[in-house]
Amino acid sequence: MQESDLFTSSDAPRPLPPGLVWLERFALAWEDALLEAITQIVVAAPLRHLRTPGGQRMSVAMTNCGPLGWISDRRGYRYSATDPQSGKPWPALPTPLQALATAAAQAAGFESFAPDACLINAYGPGARMSLHQDRDEDDLSAPIVSVSLGLPAVFLFGGRTRRDRPLRLPLTHGDVVVWGGPARLAFHGVAPVADGQHPRLGRQRINLTLRRAR
Ligand code: SIN
Ligand code: FE2
Repeated sequence: MQESDLFTSSDAPRPLPPGLVWLERFALAWEDALLEAITQIVVAAPLRHLRTPGGQRMSVAMTNCGPLGWISDRRGYRYSATDPQSGKPWPALPTPLQALATAAAQAAGFESFAPDACLINAYGPGARMSLHQDRDEDDLSAPIVSVSLGLPAVFLFGGRTRRDRPLRLPLTHGDVVVWGGPARLAFHGVAPVADGQHPRLGRQRINLTLRRAR
């Protein structure tokens, strides 16, 4: 096989690194339930722009559902059982979201994934997420399940060091990526989201990141 053949069968850069699985349109079977759940969650726990420990306002707006929510402020990155904005517990993790996460993890080869945290990221045009590792979780044997909805975006997926040149995965509405095992601590991020109009979500991209934090 010639190297160019690796890129001809689809937009997907193949092969993907060990531990990374891209499930194209996997979440579409749950589409209505997901959009309904997100609508309810952001009423109870509104999207907000957090600050990095260094004081920078993030371009991505965030909220959470589930027993634990990921937050960032001057004191650092961490999980919290309550929404610091309201002092109340985060909205419950909706059953369809839990089912999707477990099914996607299983399809990627990770049995019995039971998330206890779901971060909801909302990207308007131009919003981005710089390369980082997900490392605030206690149990790194559980994978990360990441669901993309709305506007397309280029997901950057690198290696164990910041210097590794990332792959560029053009994710679209309904795509799920799962990473774990040898890829669990890979650096990843999202390139600035291009402006556009999505039939269900308008001018935004929503990402759901489901994790086992404790
Ligand atoms: C994240 O790494 O938390 C978000 C990834 C994404 O938005 O696709
Ligand atoms: Fe992440």
